Amino acid sequence: MTSRPWDTVWLGASAATFDPARPGPWGALHDAAVGVKNGRIVWLGPLTELPERPDEVAAEVRSVPGCWITPGLIDCHTHAVFGGDRADEFAARLAGESYEAIARAGGGIRSTVSATRGATDDQLRTAAEARLRDLAREGVTTVEVKSGYDLTTDGEIRMLDVAHAAGRRAGVEIQGTLLGLHALPPEFERDRPGYIELVAREMVPRAAAEGRARQVDAFVEGIAFTAAECAPVFEAAREAGLGIRVHADQLSDAGGAALAGRWCAASADHLERTSKAGVAALARGGCVAVLLPGAYLTLRDDQPPPVTGFRQLGVPMAVASDLNPGSSPVRSLRTAASLACSLFGLTPAEALAGVTREAARALQLDDRGVLSVGRRADLAIWQVERLEELVYWIGGDLLAGRVVEGIEDAP
Ligand code: NIG
Ligand code: FE
Repeated sequence: MTSRPWDTVWLGASAATFDPARPGPWGALHDAAVGVKNGRIVWLGPLTELPERPDEVAAEVRSVPGCWITPGLIDCHTHAVFGGDRADEFAARLAGESYEAIARAGGGIRSTVSATRGATDDQLRTAAEARLRDLAREGVTTVEVKSGYDLTTDGEIRMLDVAHAAGRRAGVEIQGTLLGLHALPPEFERDRPGYIELVAREMVPRAAAEGRARQVDAFVEGIAFTAAECAPVFEAAREAGLGIRVHADQLSDAGGAALAGRWCAASADHLERTSKAGVAALARGGCVAVLLPGAYLTLRDDQPPPVTGFRQLGVPMAVASDLNPGSSPVRSLRTAASLACSLFGLTPAEALAGVTREAARALQLDDRGVLSVGRRADLAIWQVERLEELVYWIGGDLLAGRVVEGIEDAP
């Protein structure tokens, strides 16, 4: 048998490339062919322009007529590794308690910290794997996972290890983020500066040196950390070559967006209470605004992020699940994208770019999120007539196939 130049070619679908160089809201290409070799896209264009017959050009020919192909979806903000759950708090909030009051009374993130510290590696991994599989079943191929529920150096590294192990089993690539500044651990109750010092001097350098994290995040909020407290940690991140992210202006305007802008952070996330000046700071800093409608819905918030301001100043918008046990028990990125339309007024094109191209940008990854020659062959193949259906249907099994680095992989 003669060897073929490509490993696989996918034929006959419409491709939503999200390549800004192509016209239309999602850079569509109809009756397309996608050629893949060694996990990368090597050819992309109309089937009629294929240089040779499909079976001459590729070892495997996969025909997917009537489908849409998108880049594999990217969930750029999750807390998918944690012990226990907080269904009790969900009920308490429905009975009138606030998220902040629960946190101040020692519940919230702190209660997940004790559950996570008390869980074995196996327990954490099994639970995380199930959550990641749920995401994968909806076409997700890359997931960012934050630490932040142990708050000791060894424990934070353990969380990131568990994330990577769970991701390997679930068939998604994990991007680890160190979130040491998530909450003040109980043992540092009387020593805030001591904890900041530990995160900056120990956790960040170790997470970087051991390749566990590519970015560092911080929760800037009245119930968490101030913008000033983040400075030494961001300094350490910069020194270690890690990107910076900020949980910003979710419950109050604590200057999170301004901080993200000043540090030219990769992203600022949540942003429900970001001021005009905050939006301008994000634009100046080249930050992505990561919108998390799952948390907005679950906390029954009523102040959406300033989407019009982001559009006016050209701040790119990503959308993520924020999968976590407290504010966003959301195990579906497609649902998050749908909510971004219904609750925040994104167009389907914005929401879908938000879970592909702009999510990759928030993760500082330029090898995915767009279909073009040279990028990773991470694909989601959808059994839908119109691409809008991906945000129109809430729930439902729309995925016809998933390809991770050129390999078809049924999640
Ligand atoms: O993104 N805001 C901080 N972190 C999470 C919530 C974590 C939790 O409640 O456990 C968030 O919403
Ligand atoms: Fe979060």
